[in-house]
Amino acid sequence: MVLMTRRNMLKAGGVAAAYGAGLGVAGLWKQADAAMPMLLEARETTAIIDGKSETKGIMTWNDGPRPPVIRVQKGMPFSTKLLNSLNEPTTIHWHGLRIDNAMDGVPFLTQPYVYEGDTFDYSFTPPDAGTFWYHPHCNTLAQMGHGLAGLFIVENPDDPKFDREITLNLRDWRLGGDGQFIDQFKPRSAARSGTYGTVRTANWAVEPSYDVPAGGLVRVRIAVTDVTRIYRLGLEGADATVVAIDANPVPTPFPLDHLEVGPGQRLDLIVRVPDIEGETVRLVNYRSTPSYTIAALRSVGTSLNRDLREVKALPPNQLGVPDIKNAELLKIELSATAEGAPVKESFCGSLGYNFWAINKVPWSGDSPDPHDPLFELKMGKSYILEMANRTPHPHPMHLHGLSFKVLQSTDHEVMPIYTDTYVVQPDEVVQLALKADNPGDWVFHCHIIEHQKTGLTGFFRVV
Ligand code: C2O
Ligand code: CU
Repeated sequence: MVLMTRRNMLKAGGVAAAYGAGLGVAGLWKQADAAMPMLLEARETTAIIDGKSETKGIMTWNDGPRPPVIRVQKGMPFSTKLLNSLNEPTTIHWHGLRIDNAMDGVPFLTQPYVYEGDTFDYSFTPPDAGTFWYHPHCNTLAQMGHGLAGLFIVENPDDPKFDREITLNLRDWRLGGDGQFIDQFKPRSAARSGTYGTVRTANWAVEPSYDVPAGGLVRVRIAVTDVTRIYRLGLEGADATVVAIDANPVPTPFPLDHLEVGPGQRLDLIVRVPDIEGETVRLVNYRSTPSYTIAALRSVGTSLNRDLREVKALPPNQLGVPDIKNAELLKIELSATAEGAPVKESFCGSLGYNFWAINKVPWSGDSPDPHDPLFELKMGKSYILEMANRTPHPHPMHLHGLSFKVLQSTDHEVMPIYTDTYVVQPDEVVQLALKADNPGDWVFHCHIIEHQKTGLTGFFRVV
């Protein structure tokens, strides 16, 4: 499907030569060496996803056959050169990272398209530690649907050491029986809970299993990169402690029972591996009927005899604390629009329909002619977003560039955590507090990408 033009090949060759050390050999690339940014070449590849056939037209950065993971250190500069070897424009958004607006990767709002054969330099210093991820923000349904999503781990040197670390990139794929991509979405489903994939994977594999030390404490970093699916995660065969949600350490770690984790969200668990070699622990999605295993851990060796009670709260991130008493209330209403009014123009992967709206305005995002901001926020001021879901479907609402604190909900008891993504249930009204401490235009959208691209998008301007 991808045909590299001659111009692309020349450019790609040149850049690859100049940035050779970064090309696909993550181990050779050093974050401290700012003069040599990591090269991320967006390109097509093939991989065996369904366990049977080679799927063509997968999109990734650099090499397959598994999704990429970038590891950096908190507070150290990171820079990368995106080289676009796809046959359509792309960008990179660093999900959850509170960085400069110019690095946020939203076409037209924060940067131009990166066309075929072109490059874009991203550089920033991650202010927070935790589990993040990165993905395009252009023709997002197609590009993410075809694989473009990687984990972005910001390590904190002050975190305790565990016996092993596993990263899990959870997503489904829309593949036919022959292992090839089928239509990415159905308009009828986009107007409901979204179009689900046909093959469920972790790290691009169906039910992968990882060997872990018997009796050990294993840190499992999970990111839901799927374009549609909300998971309810739990473990079979072991106990685990939740230490972070959406990158931020929870003040008091708590035992994992079942936890809902929507598209865009992350979960950090410490799993106590069984003592006996060969025993398995299964990560299960209970939100599906029947429930199913996503991935497994297999105990190997003689027991390390670790104890979950050793697990203490991770050192917190330093986030802007909202001043609740003096905060201004802003009302946000999510609604369904009139039955799928067709949209005139299609650019950057608009799906050609409007099914949803924020405060009555549908916007598919990423347009050369952006709407007015939903709200203009004053730098340094605090706000309470009172968000009401007037639709019959849950929406994982995500805000770029800022973190908010969950205050209260009409639907259930909430954890008072700082996050960048909140799943708002049908008929729920939730209050989220934030301090506007990062200037720029910050997109606010549903992370069910079909909803995002059919109207459930807006942005806040912080000035
Ligand atoms: Cu992962 Cu606009 O977001
Ligand atoms: Cu939604």
